[in-house]
Amino acid sequence: MSEKISSIAQTLPHLGVNDPARVGALFAEVRAAFDRDASSAGDEASWKILRDAWLGRKSGVLTLVTDNWLKPASPELKRAVGAALNELRAHVEAQIEERRKALQASTEQTAAARERLDLSLPGVERPIGSRHLVRQVQEEIERIFLSIGFSVVEGPEIETPYYNFEALNIPEYHPVRDDMDTFYLDVPPGAKPLLLRTHTSPMQIRTMEKQKPPVRIIVPGKVYRRDNPDATHSFMFHQVEGLAVDTDITFCEFKGTMEYFIREFFGPSVKTRFRPSYFPFTEPSAELDASCIFCGGRGSGCAKCKGSGWIELFGAGMVDPSVYGFVNYDAKKLSGFAFGLGPDRMAMLKYGVEDIQTFFQNDVRFLRQFP
Ligand code: DAH
Repeated sequence: MSEKISSIAQTLPHLGVNDPARVGALFAEVRAAFDRDASSAGDEASWKILRDAWLGRKSGVLTLVTDNWLKPASPELKRAVGAALNELRAHVEAQIEERRKALQASTEQTAAARERLDLSLPGVERPIGSRHLVRQVQEEIERIFLSIGFSVVEGPEIETPYYNFEALNIPEYHPVRDDMDTFYLDVPPGAKPLLLRTHTSPMQIRTMEKQKPPVRIIVPGKVYRRDNPDATHSFMFHQVEGLAVDTDITFCEFKGTMEYFIREFFGPSVKTRFRPSYFPFTEPSAELDASCIFCGGRGSGCAKCKGSGWIELFGAGMVDPSVYGFVNYDAKKLSGFAFGLGPDRMAMLKYGVEDIQTFFQNDVRFLRQFP
């Protein structure tokens, strides 16, 4: 900076300036040098360097000009040098102060800009995930039944033995209880026993207790059994119960509804088969099979249906008249059907999932395959 104006290290006689008329040009050079310096002081650090270079007490340019030009100046030059120096000093001080203000203003501006809330910016987007495959399948089942006049109800996962068993025509010591190894809750001595429901069927009873016929409901929910986990068993799984009771429901309607549902769910080419079965709360009872969706029902060589051409789907039947006795429904006037689907199993069949455990392990690599 000031090094560039080497003239200030010398006195006026050395520079050959003896005439007051030349003083102006000399100062004009210095002022021009200052203006160049000042214009490149764009931040606080270079501003400080500028200030010290020009106003520094010991070796600032103005001090050197005072010491080397003014003080030793001959009386003829002194006035002109003094006046020019005052003018230069005023210019330098004013410019340096102005630059300081400008710099301060611009740092405040950038800080303000940095801190300003821009409400037009999009927020942080957090991926909200997607519905679990079991939930998707459950909703698909609901959609199908809602479209034919059923409604959706839900019930408690903690049940009494009465609703889970007795009112469904399963007395204590009935052997089918053995099929439903059950979690009983620890309750205080003498309190009513409670258990985690082993199926959604108790909601048949709870609904008929509360509601006069006709009834057309499905009941999605979690159920619990003391099963050892493997590829097809889990201590918690899902069911969708169904119940239709009215004055004129025949086995034909039962069959037609089940076939309609299975075709809606698996596709129009799937065939349905009813096999005789037994449930204490239905009579007659049936096990529903679908023609194998993997081999198209051909069977031979298909590992999924073990060569039979059929896949077991779920249990169902016409409501056993003795069940109506538990809910004060008139068994002579009413008839109906019931069914119990497993959405986990239906999802495994429809989407080729091999292990039920993958539904409950929450591994996103698995879940993301079903967005
Ligand atoms: N509750 C039975 C179970 O969990 C399934 C079932 C079978 C439900 C037949 C029904 C039915 O409503 O009619 O094994």
